[in-house]
Formats: sequence, structure tokens, C-alpha cells
Amino acid sequence: MKIATIVVAIAVLFIASTIYTQQNKKLDTHLVELTAPFVFGRFNLPEDNPLTQESVLLGRRLFYDPILSSNNKVSCATCHKQALAFTDGLKTSVGVSGIPLDFNSMSLVNLMWGPKHFFWDGRASSLEEQAIIPITHHDEMARNIEALIVDLNNDETYKKLFKQAFGNISAQNIAKALASFQRTLISANSRYDQYLRGEISLTAIEEQGRKLFMAHPDTKVVLRGGNCIDCHSQFLTSGFGTMFDGFSNNGLDNDQTLQPGLFTLTQNEAHRGLFKAPTLRNIAVTSPYMHDGRFATLQEVLAHYNGGIKRSKTLSPLIIEADNIPKTQNVHISLNLNDNEIAAIIAFLHTLTDEEFLANRAFSDPFIAENSDD
Ligand code: HEC
Ligand code: HEC
Repeated sequence: MKIATIVVAIAVLFIASTIYTQQNKKLDTHLVELTAPFVFGRFNLPEDNPLTQESVLLGRRLFYDPILSSNNKVSCATCHKQALAFTDGLKTSVGVSGIPLDFNSMSLVNLMWGPKHFFWDGRASSLEEQAIIPITHHDEMARNIEALIVDLNNDETYKKLFKQAFGNISAQNIAKALASFQRTLISANSRYDQYLRGEISLTAIEEQGRKLFMAHPDTKVVLRGGNCIDCHSQFLTSGFGTMFDGFSNNGLDNDQTLQPGLFTLTQNEAHRGLFKAPTLRNIAVTSPYMHDGRFATLQEVLAHYNGGIKRSKTLSPLIIEADNIPKTQNVHISLNLNDNEIAAIIAFLHTLTDEEFLANRAFSDPFIAENSDD
């Protein structure tokens, strides 16, 4: 029996639920129907923000609405474009101020799984907490929340949508709606998912890449490997969900150039230079790569892992000890994969592209949908 083919319904279909708003006014809402592969594992929703159709509908509209920015030109979707798996194709993102941000935009997918800390350095601990940060950040959307609430209250559509979802318009409810919409961004139909479900087989080179991706090299038993699985562990979502296991130092910088990373949040020196291992889902469409967008292609990423690793005091031991030929002392850290093996891993990474997700109308700009006939 193929366990991967079992699909579980996450939330019960259209069950009317009664939710009390802050004013203790009763609202009749409907839970969202979602399905995700069994292999994704369990997830938790915050008790005070159940996933309802009303909040998702509102969140989708807010996500695509430049009303969230001070110059009425930047929406969440400016930096998170669906066709690019909700990234923006830039080295580092640019918002209302025109000054490039410090970071590369992150893909928004399968956010109910994987590390429970958001941003490259993990400084937001929930999607609700995260949502307000870009809205108020002076370089991103630079919006005064009180002024935004006034403007939303002057808009009849928003007044109605907020009433249906939560009762009233508040910063907290804006955040809840955005979080709810983003939780519905589930990708589970890449060629690799289809392979896991037994629906297709991979080509020879993709299969070779899959095996290399999954294997930690062991020179004693002559097992060749790319070592990727050590950190991109649940690469359907990527990174471990517990504590800070989803964060590591993958050798981008030496001690002199090491960025703070997770240290920003924890103030723990052992966390300096650790960043969130992002999802590799749809990785073929989310270039450029790494927290600062330093690599333009997957070829460059693989060249980094194969021979470009920089040593520093927090470099992951999983990288230091991984090698495909027996190590002599003090050699430069290298996986020692050959060109064919590198090409195979890249071919495998392409199987993680989920075309259905990238074109799913439920995630698209509702303003365009409203203005078109079909
Ligand atoms: C100006 C571009 C820009 C805008 C506008 C923007 N984002 Fe982002 N987003 C980014 C960048 C860059 C990062 C990574 C930032 C970091 O790590 O500090 C990010 C990270 C995130 C993450 C973290 C994902 C993860 O896996 O940790 C979420 C969630 C997110 N954004 C949602 C939103 C929402 C919701 C909005 C609208 C309210 C929004 N973003 C607006 C650029 C932007
Ligand atoms: C020691 C843990 C570790 C190992 C091993 C590892 N990675 Fe990573 N990977 C990370 C971390 C952490 C990041 C983010 C680093 C950053 O931006 O600072 C990352 C980033 C990436 C990115 C860029 C993602 C993006 O959205 O920008 C790709 C692609 C990638 N890794 C592929 C691989 C492949 C392929 C392998 C195997 C050859 C591999 N990784 C092995 C931890 C690891």
C-alpha cells in the first residue's frame, strides 16, 4: 500500500461554526475545505483564528490590494507573485521607498508546515505577527495602521467583508485575514508529488538526482550523495518544524562576513549566521537564491555546495563532514560531486515545480477575476 496516496481532508467540508467576535456578537462562518497529502503531517491552527471561508476571501483581497501601502502602489503581491511561487524575481525586494531591502523575497507555500518561525532570520513567530511587519515597515509599505483602518472603514466592500469574517475592522483582524489566505496556499501536485503517489515515474536522470538529494555520502560504504536531505529534510515544506532545527549555516560566509541571522532573534552566539532553510518547492521559478539573492541560477547554488563552502565558527557539521571521496586533513570542504551528478540534482529540483499551484485561480488576484467575464 502506498502511504503517500492517502489524502486526508484537513477541515470538514462547509460545516457551519459559531465564532464569537471581540464584541461577543455571534457570527455564522464556514470552515474552509482543504486537502493536503498525508505525508505533510500534522499542523495546528491558532485557536483564535479558525480558517473560515470569510476570512480567506477577505485575506485574498487584502493581499492583492495596494491600499495597504502609503503610496497606494505596493501590495503584498508586488513582492510575492503567484507565477513565481510568491517571490518577486529580484535579488532583494523593493517597496514604496525604492530602497532595496536587506533580503530576498520568500516563497509563500505550505506555510502550515515546516519551521514555525517566519522570515529568513525567524523573527516572526506566527503568520499573524508577520503580516503587520511589511505593512508598517518604512521601506516596504510604510502604512500607518490607524489611517489604513479609516480607509478600509470608508470602503463599503471591506466593511461588509470584515463584518462577515470578524465583526469589525482592526489591525488584529487585518493580520488574521492575511494569515488565513496564506494558509490556503498549498502546493501538492508537482511531478515529484505525482511520483510519490505512484502516478508517474521519473526519468533516469531525475531518479539519479533524487537518490543523490536523499543520500548523506558515506565513503566507507562508497555511497555517493548530495547531502541535501540533511537540512531540506521535509523538502515538501522544508526544514524541521521544531524549535530552530529548520535553521542552519550552509557556508555562505566566513567569520568576517557572517550575517546575524537567527542571532537577531535569540541573541545566542551559536545562532550567528544561521538562516531558515527555505522550501525547495517550485525552486526552479524562485531565482535568485539565498537570503540575499546572491546566486542567480541553480547551477551556482550547486557550485556553492560542491566547492564554495566558506568556513566559520557556526558552519553546520552536516556540511563539514559530507564528502564523496575520503577526506585527507585540512582539505577545502567539498562534496566532490561530478558534473553529471550536479546536473542530476538540478534535474530533480525541477520535478518540484507545481504548475497547478502556480496557476491556481483560488490564489490569483481577485481584482482581475472581478473585472473579467470568465
Ligand atoms: C517590498 C516587498 C515586500 C512586500 C510589500 C511584502 N513582502 Fe513579504 N517578504 C518580503 C521579503 C524580502 C521577505 C523576507 C524578509 C526577511 O526575511 O526579513 C518576506 C517574507 C515574508 C514571509 C515569511 C515567509 C517565511 O517562510 O518565513 C511572509 C509570510 C510574507 N513575507 C508575507 C507577506 C504579506 C502578507 C505581505 C503583505 C501584507 C507582504 N509579505 C509584503 C518582501 C515583501
Ligand atoms: C547544512 C544544511 C544544508 C544542507 C546540507 C543543504 N542546504 Fe540548501 N539551504 C540551507 C539553508 C540554511 C539555506 C538558506 C541559506 C541562506 O540564505 O542564508 C539553503 C538554501 C538553499 C537554496 C536557496 C533557496 C532559496 O529559496 O533561495 C537552494 C536552492 C538549496 N539550498 C538547495 C540545496 C541543495 C540542492 C542541497 C544539496 C546539494 C542543499 N541545499 C544542502 C541549508 C542546507
